Amino acid sequence: MTDVTTEKPALEPTGALSVETVLSVKHWNEHLFSFRITRPASFRFRSGEFVMIGLKGDNGKPLLRAYSVASPSWDEEIEFLSIKVQDGPLTSKLQLIQPGDQIYLGRKPTGTLVTDALLPGKRLFMLSTGTGLAPFLSLSRDPDVYEFYEQVVIVHSVRRVSDLAFRDDLEAKWAEDPLVSEQAPGQFHYVPTVTREPFEGNTQRIDALVESGALFAGIPGAAKFDPETDRIMMCGSMEMIKQFAAYFEGAGFTEGSNAAPGQFVIERAFVG
Ligand SMILES: Cc1cc2nc3c(=O)[nH]c(=O)nc-3n(C[C@H](O)[C@H](O)[C@H](O)COP(=O)(O)OP(=O)(O)OC[C@H]3O[C@@H](n4cnc5c(N)ncnc54)[C@H](O)[C@@H]3O)c2cc1C
Ligand SMILES: NC(=O)c1ccc[n+]([C@@H]2O[C@H](COP(=O)([O-])OP(=O)(O)OC[C@H]3O[C@@H](n4cnc5c(N)ncnc54)[C@H](OP(=O)(O)O)[C@@H]3O)[C@@H](O)[C@H]2O)c1
Repeated sequence: MTDVTTEKPALEPTGALSVETVLSVKHWNEHLFSFRITRPASFRFRSGEFVMIGLKGDNGKPLLRAYSVASPSWDEEIEFLSIKVQDGPLTSKLQLIQPGDQIYLGRKPTGTLVTDALLPGKRLFMLSTGTGLAPFLSLSRDPDVYEFYEQVVIVHSVRRVSDLAFRDDLEAKWAEDPLVSEQAPGQFHYVPTVTREPFEGNTQRIDALVESGALFAGIPGAAKFDPETDRIMMCGSMEMIKQFAAYFEGAGFTEGSNAAPGQFVIERAFVG
């Protein structure tokens, strides 16, 4: 069956996938875009989780990839932040989507970057590189997070200034957000760092910012991580999260999971 208005092949829902409609698309630069889709009433998730999404592949079957939901669990729409991989099976097509297009959405979100996987604490640090920011956009707009933690920090390390997606919203501490605009001004901190281009702020990798203490500037509490009070979430390349996991274990933190909450949790932002 063909959709006559777009001449793109119509998608069929399956037991595991619903078919949703693209509502809006924003291109941040030639490597990065974000988009919003409809949310079915049956779609429940915890802020920070990921889900499979996709398009119809050349063989007619769904071509799916894991994506962190970038919007909070209370939002009526669902937002994603995506890389554009040159020749990537999915993103070479996905980057062309437009409002009105159809997209597959998995019915079973999951993941470890959830507050359920962490023990109670005072400061929540969310350390991200590249598109690893996505789950933290979701969490930083969830009012529960501001009930659980006194300080909520997003650290975002990118190569170039234009990779700082959602920078305006984050710098404004979600001032326009209907649910967290009261708590976030006093509790939320945004720490961007740009490593391959001149930038008026931080320009070192996250590990160097931790080492020098620069990462903690303006955040109430000690200028170093403390397993008693600090909880950490990390999302980025495999290399980055492995290095940080070893660092936190060495500093006396234990890794948490949904089954056994701990002091830090990790999730890879992509495979490879
Ligand atoms: C748990 C989980 C959550 C994910 N969440 C997101 C998300 O929110 N946003 C997102 O854009 N991607 C996310 N990904 C990656 C995503 O699943 C796909 O890999 C990505 O959409 C590219 O798909 P592709 O078919 O075009 O290329 P693929 O064949 O999947 O990837 C080709 C290569 O591109 C590189 N690559 C892929 N994704 C990324 C990325 N995000 N950042 C940098 N390099 C990358 C890797 O080197 C990879 O080997 C997630 C992956 C996992 C496992
Ligand atoms: N974003 C771009 O402009 C760009 C341009 C060309 C191609 N690409 C493609 O996109 C892919 C992903 O690029 P990306 O920019 O999203 O991700 P990335 O290469 O992982 O870099 C994102 C940020 O993470 C930092 N980082 C990388 N490894 C780290 C580690 N082990 N510990 C601490 N920090 C670390 C980087 O610092 P450093 O800068 O010091 O590495 C950078 O600030 C690349 O592999 C490439 O194929 C991206």
